[in-house]
This record gives sequence, structure tokens and C-alpha cells, in this order.
Amino acid sequence: MSLCCHIIVNVTGVTLTILGHLGMSSCYTSLFTLMMRYAQTAAALAPEPRLKKFQIYRWDPDTAGDKPRMQTYEIDLNACGPMVLDALIKIKNEMDPTLTFRRSCREGICGSCAMNINGGNTLACLNKIDTNTNKTTKIYPLPHMYVVKDLVPDMSNFYAQYKSIEPYLKKKDETQEGKEQYFQSVEDRQKLDGLYECILCACCSTSCPSYWWNGDKYLGPAVLMQAYRWMIDSRDEFTEERLAKLQDPFSLYRCHTIMNCTKTCPKGLNPGKAIAEIKKMMATYKEKKAAVS
Ligand code: SF4
Ligand code: SF4
Ligand code: FES
Repeated sequence: MSLCCHIIVNVTGVTLTILGHLGMSSCYTSLFTLMMRYAQTAAALAPEPRLKKFQIYRWDPDTAGDKPRMQTYEIDLNACGPMVLDALIKIKNEMDPTLTFRRSCREGICGSCAMNINGGNTLACLNKIDTNTNKTTKIYPLPHMYVVKDLVPDMSNFYAQYKSIEPYLKKKDETQEGKEQYFQSVEDRQKLDGLYECILCACCSTSCPSYWWNGDKYLGPAVLMQAYRWMIDSRDEFTEERLAKLQDPFSLYRCHTIMNCTKTCPKGLNPGKAIAEIKKMMATYKEKKAAVS
């Protein structure tokens, strides 16, 4: 007796369709053989789970009496993207929706996923997971910052400091503003390379011992590099005023050229060098001022 059969089988997650005219007994025999073969192949192909531990700083200000603690999560690296941010998103989506962190672009552009991973400040989206499953990855918020919750630092002071350097083009005569473009030579434009790319992630400032101890008065490498960026912009006319604002003992001169900032920048920038350049400009500015008075 023949039979028209259309059978859908799911063997270890693989869907298989058998369609055709088969004798009933041969149909079942073929199906069974195929299932067995598929099960064997799928079992042979399935990779061993690669379980990796992540220890993450947790603190919730809304839970009365909650104290900062480390919480451990274990995930299979075979089912996770390659970056630390992928692991955090996986934990939040599949294991613990209360885990709190900032992220947006996931490609090193927005600067919001800055955190301390295995002892270094970096961007979680650009930091590859260490695939050694014997080692636990430890994740903390950026150091020496007030914590809003879990991995979210309070950036208020950092942004206020950024605002204080007036990070925009300033002209003495504002009557011409918006009437025509302010041109710049190719050479002058090139002077801004290595400065304008800063994404204000604060990895550098929060790795700086001087910023740790005097973060209220010392501007820190990220903000100083942006101050320098505007000082040397050929279109800006407030270079001297910008220098004058940094003349106190703290804003600029708390930098002791330790260079943690440059070492840690996940964008490969050199804020330590920018600060050294401001110090040179400051020396010339002071000489000029002394000569005038
Ligand atoms: S200089 Fe680098 S580390 Fe510092 S804020 Fe800019 S991008 Fe981040
Ligand atoms: S070079 Fe200056 S800004 Fe950079 S880490 Fe050292 S002290 Fe801080
Ligand atoms: S998510 Fe934007 S820099 Fe990491």
C-alpha cells in the first residue's frame, strides 16, 4: 500500500521535512534512520559549553540598607557575542533585568559604556571578553566617582567641568555670526586631529590619581584636552582668555605627567600630551603678560 506523506521532524533543534510517496513501512524505516543520523551528527557538532564567570559590582540606592557587593553570573560564551557589553546585555536580558549600566551605540562612539573591566578603564563595547574560562572577569563602575546605581557613575561634576571651559567657537565680533563660514586652512584643520575624536567617556580622567584626589578643582585630562582643542583652533579668538582661566594652582597644574590618562584612552588619544602643550602655551602667555605689565 502506498501513502502520500509530509512529515516534519525536529531532531535536536534541526527541522527536517520529508515529502513524497512512500510505502508505509519503508516510510517509517527511512524516517527512523534519518532521525538517528541527524541526532548523531547534531550531537557531534554541538560545541562544549564554555562557561565563563563575570563578577559585577552591584549597589541599589533604592533598596534600604543595601551595601555594595560583587555578584557573580555565569554565561556560556558559545551563546554570547564577543565583547564585554554583549555579556552585560545577555545577563540583563536573560538572567537579571535589575542589572544597571549605560550603553547606546555599541561601537565606541557614544562613550556611555565606560567602566572598569579587569582593573582598567575602558569601553565595554570595545573590550573583548577574555576567553580563558578559568579567569573571572571583574567589572566595576569608573573609579572614584559617585555611583548612581550598579555600573552607572554620576557624571555631573565631569559635565559641569566640561561646560566651564566653554567648548565651542568664540569670536570677539559676534555681529557676523551665522553670515558666512569660518574658513580654516588644511594645515590648521590637521592640528585638531587626535583631539576632536574624544568621545568624553571619562576613562582618562577617572584613571588619573590627581583627579581622584582633587576632582572638584582639577579639571582632569579629558576636559583639559578639550580646552586645548579650542585654544589651538585657528578660528577661535579667545585663546588668551582660555589660558587665563586655567592659571590657578589646581585647574591645570595638578597634572603631574603620570600619563595614566594616555595609557587608558580606549580611542588611542593622548590627553597627557595635550596638557603638556597647554603648559607650554601658558609659559609663553605668562611671559607675554609680564612684558606688558
Ligand atoms: S581622551 Fe580618550 S579616555 Fe579621555 S574622555 Fe576622550 S576618549 Fe575618553
Ligand atoms: S598625565 Fe596628568 S592628567 Fe594624565 S594621568 Fe597623569 S596627572 Fe592625570
Ligand atoms: S556603547 Fe557607545 S561607546 Fe560603548
